[in-house]
Amino acid sequence: MATAAPSIPRVELALGPTPILKLERLSRELGVELWVKRDDLTGLLESGNKIRKLEFLVGEALAQRADTLITCGTLQSNCCRAVSAVAARLGLKAILALKGGPPDEYDGNLLLDRLLGAEIRYCDDAEWDKIDQVLADLEARVRARGRTPYVIPESGATVTGALGYLSCGQELAQQIRQGAPDFDTVAITAFSGGSHAGLLMAKQLTGLRGQIVSIPIAWEAERVRAYVTDVIKRARGRYSLDVEVPETIRLIDGYQGGGRAEVRQAALETVVRVARTEGIVLDPVYTAKAFHGLLDALRREPDAFGRRVCFIHTGGIFSIFPFRRALSRFLDAQT
Ligand SMILES: Cc1ncc(COP(=O)(O)O)c(C=O)c1O
Repeated sequence: MATAAPSIPRVELALGPTPILKLERLSRELGVELWVKRDDLTGLLESGNKIRKLEFLVGEALAQRADTLITCGTLQSNCCRAVSAVAARLGLKAILALKGGPPDEYDGNLLLDRLLGAEIRYCDDAEWDKIDQVLADLEARVRARGRTPYVIPESGATVTGALGYLSCGQELAQQIRQGAPDFDTVAITAFSGGSHAGLLMAKQLTGLRGQIVSIPIAWEAERVRAYVTDVIKRARGRYSLDVEVPETIRLIDGYQGGGRAEVRQAALETVVRVARTEGIVLDPVYTAKAFHGLLDALRREPDAFGRRVCFIHTGGIFSIFPFRRALSRFLDAQT
């Protein structure tokens, strides 16, 4: 699929267009048409939104002749797993700086990181507080070995990464032109808000009609808005995209709880509810929290989002496994 600025370096990684499915039973329950764009199926280990971001980040890395990708995140980071998968796929080396110590057994995303051959640098809390320094040290070490590093900040949160969701928005606009419903609202999970910023740019460049809404799962609303604003301004400057910061950056706020470190009962309930009613698995840290926020907002204000709402499922399935204990308790309590 062409990008708004075709000269931007890009490696095609995502299996697209990702399918758009109606959630039949939830739609009947809620009295609105609720759809899901399955961006959890972008491929390379069901890597969700990160694969779209990495198309542009790794495109830039290869344009700089990098042979080593360095990034950071939590032990169960989806982004780190996606970087590991892309590095293995393209014959690059991945080095991950992870927050926490080595566990007795590998699980979920960390198990996959190891399986995919990523080198891990565990960071204690004090080191994590100085993560930029840790990344700079890793970069210097790679250079000293005669290799060329490319550093991807946590969550791929850069203006280049956000182009992945500009591209997703372009894909969605094309699917609508080809007969998919013309959604009134497109909703997406927000950690940094980079994906939200990408969709807002696509709205302006492709004429997508629906309003774009995100549900922050960790950062407070003003920090997400500031990041979205910054990304759009930088994209305009760096890539000469004809985009403006919209007057309103719409968020469904209040569902962050304790951030990524804390998963509440409501998120687990949502994982189970969506699995059982629609056969789709959300992850407890990102998408379940966000989808819970969307369902709750639809319940409280059924007319606020129009007749047809599309939630973009951004992936993260492997982090379900480290929650096996909490989920087992929850499932057993129900029977
Ligand atoms: C599954 C999943 N969904 C959504 C997000 C949020 O992406 P962004 O940082 O672009 O808001 C992330 C990234 O951290 C993620 O792993």
